[in-house]
This record gives sequence, C-alpha cells and structure tokens, in this order.
Amino acid sequence: MRNLLQLNTSLFSTGGRSSQLADTFAADWQAANPGSSVVVRDLAANPVPHLTGERFQAFLAKPEDRTEAQRLEANVSDELVAELQAADVLVIGLPLYNFGVPSTLKAWFDHVARAGITFRYTSSGPEGLLKGKKAYLFATRGGVHAGFPRDTQTGFVRDFLAFLGITDVEFIYAEGLAMGDAVAKPAIEKATLAAHRFASSRAPERLAA
Ligand SMILES: Cc1cc2nc3c(=O)[nH]c(=O)nc-3n(C[C@H](O)[C@H](O)[C@H](O)COP(=O)(O)O)c2cc1C
Repeated sequence: MRNLLQLNTSLFSTGGRSSQLADTFAADWQAANPGSSVVVRDLAANPVPHLTGERFQAFLAKPEDRTEAQRLEANVSDELVAELQAADVLVIGLPLYNFGVPSTLKAWFDHVARAGITFRYTSSGPEGLLKGKKAYLFATRGGVHAGFPRDTQTGFVRDFLAFLGITDVEFIYAEGLAMGDAVAKPAIEKATLAAHRFASSRAPERLAA
C-alpha cells in the first residue's frame, strides 16, 4: 500500500492557498492510487512545539534512561518521524512568510532531524536515511522570487530534505499572489494544473508499486 503524508503549514490552515494546492494533489493522487492512504498533518491546527534544549536532550537520551517528561517529549518526535518514514510521497503546502518557511514547518523539521534515525554522519559526511521517497512542494508567494538569489526558501527546503535522504523533489510555484488578480489568478490556475498533472502521472513511486 502506498502512503502519502501531507503537511499543511499555512497560518490559515485549510484556507491557505498552499493547503488547497496540496489538497488538490492529494485527492488526485489517492484517486490514481487505489487502496493508498493519505495522512494530513495541519501544523496550524496542531503545531509542533519549538525545539528547546530540554527536548533535544530527550531525543538524545537512550529510551530506557528517559525521565517521564523526556519520554513524552521524545514521543512527539517519534510519532512525526514514524509518519515520515511510512510515507512514499511527501506533499508540503509551503507558503513564503517573511522570506522564510513558516515557523511551524521549521519546528517540524527540528523534530524529524534525528541523528541515527533519519540521518547519520559517516567519515565521508552526512548520509540521509530516508530513501526512496518523492516530495512535492506547493510554494505560494505574495511576490515573485523563484530563480532569484533572494529565494533562499527553495534552497533551504531542498537542502534539508536532501540531508534526510529525500532528493527526488518537485517545487510547484504559485507566485505574485499579492500582485492583483491579473497575476494571481493565472498563477493559481497554472499551479493547480501542475498539481493535477503530477498527481496523475506515472511517477516512479507508482511504477515501483
Ligand atoms: C505573515 C506573512 C508574511 C508574508 N511574507 C511574504 C514574503 O516575505 N514574501 C512574499 O512574497 N510573500 C509574503 N507573504 C504572502 C504569502 O506568501 C502569500 O499570501 C501566500 O499565499 C501564503 O500562502 P498561504 O495562502 O498558503 O498561507 C506573506 C504573508 C503573510 C501572511
């Protein structure tokens, strides 16, 4: 059975344009993959806590040595990691907020980067331990940034996913959404069409099924 994990990271939850594009993709993907499952994690409705020194220590501690508080903290991370490990396809609604990723997504990143579990260091450098996954990022922006040096979001997200071993990554942009209907409408239409196309295409994860 194929699994899709969808992360909605818009402040506006299901009302965010990035969430709606991710929804479009997920609905088509599920229709094209009978018997598959879709898990939706809405980081606005259910935010992941910020990483603290205490939480990080809980991740590092051996399970048998954790205090009760540390066990609960590590459980949050373990659950998020398990969801990601189980996913064949990762779909992220990715708004641009103040030149970066939503802080809720950064908190999720901080909880799924686990040494020895999702990545490890070897003598030749870091190695991502989550192999064979495909990721689709629905990147919504008020302005136009893709392809310009100021678009640090794309590189950051690509590098982070690659660090965990997720290197097969597709960015779909809807830009200029604050630039009036004449720009915003076609941008959303184009991204929506791309969502339909990618979700129904014979992507590698389906060929491997
Ligand atoms: C708090 C906030 C910060 C934003 N910062 C930026 C920005 O730095 N650059 C930009 O092009 N658009 C910015 N925008 C516009 C959003 O990227 C745009 O509204 C997009 O649709 C957000 O995706 P969403 O609808 O899924 O939340 C910002 C919007 C908000 C609410």
